[in-house]
Formats: sequence, structure tokens, C-alpha cells
Amino acid sequence: MAKKIVAGNWKMHKTLEEAQSLLTEIRGMVRDETKGKCEVVVCPPSIALHSLSRLAEGSQIKVGAQNCHHNEQGAFTGEISASMISSTGASYVITGHSERRQYFAETNDELLLKNRLAIKNGLNVIYCVGETLSQRQNHEHFKIIQEQIEKGVLALDRKEFSQISIAYEPVWAIGTGVTASPIEAQEIHAFIRNLISNHFTSEIADDTAILYGGSVKADNAKELFSQKDIDGGLIGGASLKARDFIEIIHAMEQVL
Ligand code: PGA
Repeated sequence: MAKKIVAGNWKMHKTLEEAQSLLTEIRGMVRDETKGKCEVVVCPPSIALHSLSRLAEGSQIKVGAQNCHHNEQGAFTGEISASMISSTGASYVITGHSERRQYFAETNDELLLKNRLAIKNGLNVIYCVGETLSQRQNHEHFKIIQEQIEKGVLALDRKEFSQISIAYEPVWAIGTGVTASPIEAQEIHAFIRNLISNHFTSEIADDTAILYGGSVKADNAKELFSQKDIDGGLIGGASLKARDFIEIIHAMEQVL
């Protein structure tokens, strides 16, 4: 059975001090109000990784980065490497977020290199895939997602792949308030699981966490998480308030 994960992507929000107080608030609520049945991950801006990893020690919260570079090291001003992330105490990294694909022109081939390096440095990867609105309207979404999955993660070997979780995030649902319906999301999640099963084995597919992301809120999370192939969520806006984020963790725990 796949691990259940609720991950918060804080994007470019929160100064160091604000990040520390949000984490402290979440840590208290996770300890007092949740049953510890799902993995809780927070992904702050990279300058807060070290401090938040320290603050999360001894709790069930894992800390992750939002991106890493596809080279081990070198003359890439402003970038951070997988080994640097790992050295902060963080244990996760998000790769291939649609904002990275769209604004920073990240390609599937580059993302495979990132994924390899992240894994080599002991990080768990949340690899994002998803179609744009026009791709869905042109009925290209299955093809686009298949390509993102095949090039980005199915080129890994089995051992590497065991550190991969996938997040399906339809671009038209991110930050828009529009969510994919639970049936639309389930259809894509089952499609992704099937791709993994055909390439590796059905056991490996069943063990892979496939998260949904895109306007997940406390009031729609339970219905999404009840779908057979949805193993959790990657949460943007609603992860910036401790109470909202905890309610989404509750929704996950209710369906377990
Ligand atoms: P959202 O963002 O929840 O604000 O739609 C999700 C994401 O981009 O990961």
C-alpha cells in the first residue's frame, strides 16, 4: 500500500521568521490533533530549510525543498543543488512543478537528471505532472501526462523509483479555486498507476504515492482523498495557514 502524504508547497511566501512561526504552529497542531497516520511534509523557500528542519526534529513533520538544480555543482549563480538540500536536514524535494515548467522552461529530460541527483542524495522526490487548460480542451492530457511520467521517472531504475511520489496537478486548477472533480482526478491517477504498473510491476505501482494538487481546501479534500488512487495532496494556498492545513490532514486521516 502506498504511503499517504499531505504536503504543503509554500512557494515564494514567508520570510524566515514567518516560516519558523508557521512551522511551530503546525507542529503543535500535528502533535495535539492528528493521529500520525499520514506523512506530513512542508516545503518552505530554500533559505528556511535548515532552520525548519531543526524545528521539525522529534516531530512527524518532514521538510522539503521546492526545486533543485540538475547538476551536482558548478557555476550556476543563484541555484541550489540536491546535496545542499540534503545537508540542511531536509528529506524531500518537489520537482517539475508546473510553475517551474512554465516560468523556468524546465523540460522532462532535465527533470530526469534532477530526480536522479535528488535520489542519489537521499531525498524523497515529489514529481509533479499535469496538463494545461488548452491541452485538456484539445484532448491531449493523457498524452502529455504519459510523456511527463515516462521521461521524468520511468527512465529511473526500480531502486531509484522507490524514492518517487507523483503529484498530479492540472495547471488549470492551481491557484484558481477550480479543482478537478474527484472523478476527473481519479481517472488520471488510475492512468498514472497503470503506466507504472505496465513499466515496472503492479506491486511497485500500488506502493507509489500519487498525490492530487490544485485548489485543495479543507472542504473538498475528503472527497478527493476518498478516491481509490488518490494517496494524498500537494497543497499550495491552503498550506499557508496552520488551521487550514491541519483540516486537510484531518480529511486524509478520516478516509484511512
Ligand atoms: P494551490 O497550489 O493549492 O494553491 O492550487 C497547488 C500547487 O501549486 O502545488
